[in-house]
Amino acid sequence: MAGVSRRPPSPLLTAAGALVAAGAASLAWGAGVEVRSYRLRRVEVPVLPAGQAPLKVLHLSDLHLTPGQHRKQAWVRALAALEPDLVVDTGDNLASAAAVPAVLSALEPLLARPGAFVLGSNDYFGPRPKNPAGYLRGPSKASHRPDLLPTGDLVAGLVGAGWADLTNARAELDVGGRRVTLVGVDDPHLGRDRYLDLSAPADPRADLRLGVAHAPYRRVLDAMTSDGLDLLLAGHTHGGQLCVPGFGALVTNCDLPRRYVKGLHRWERGRDAAWLHVSAGLGTSPYAPVRFACPPEATLLTLVAGT
Ligand SMILES: [Fe+2]
Repeated sequence: MAGVSRRPPSPLLTAAGALVAAGAASLAWGAGVEVRSYRLRRVEVPVLPAGQAPLKVLHLSDLHLTPGQHRKQAWVRALAALEPDLVVDTGDNLASAAAVPAVLSALEPLLARPGAFVLGSNDYFGPRPKNPAGYLRGPSKASHRPDLLPTGDLVAGLVGAGWADLTNARAELDVGGRRVTLVGVDDPHLGRDRYLDLSAPADPRADLRLGVAHAPYRRVLDAMTSDGLDLLLAGHTHGGQLCVPGFGALVTNCDLPRRYVKGLHRWERGRDAAWLHVSAGLGTSPYAPVRFACPPEATLLTLVAGT
């Protein structure tokens, strides 16, 4: 009996099938596992005056919290065991109008420590469905949207607990016996930054001069660096969120070059330079709950005396 002869699939079809299967597996990993694989990154920054003891700064960003994200809330609460000298939250805390109590509960053990914050677009406006591919065409557009979040309640909770609101504002804190000056801006991604109104030469009597923003736009980083600030902290990029192993982030969702998308770098402006730390953050929009090759993170910056 003659058998039915089958032609083997072409190598091109086999490769395409393998690529689709790998993509689907990556997406499943990114949405099911990695997006909740919270990590603590530890970084040493040689930024303090010579002879000073280390200071621990916990950098939180982009929680994008919903009330139902209990695991994330518990993970953030547990960070208090690190006993940071200072906590800095670089915004995008909310992913729901009902999330303010959850954010304040997650932060509650940390609110007992010296802290400061700025706001991001996701502290003002609720998340909306978006085409994720839109990020590849350029930074997302800020728009006037009716879905306002209870920003005032969030700010009142943080300020009421003693944290400094750096939304286009300055502050000075005693941190572990050190004099720390801080200056921050409202979200540059929304065009709300007013750094020029705050700009001033860095206080030479301070032990540490911090600049804080949600989205690390170059105009803000340049101006802060020119003013002589020591360390700049920002979030917003999500570290690229969907990264390519061996290549890294595809986008920063702002005008920051890709190589600065997360982590610690030197930011240079003419003859001036500052340390820049960009957090990849702990969350994502609920409409794009996927991370790949870029796990959610908080960072413990150990500031040590410079050489
Ligand atoms: Fe964000």
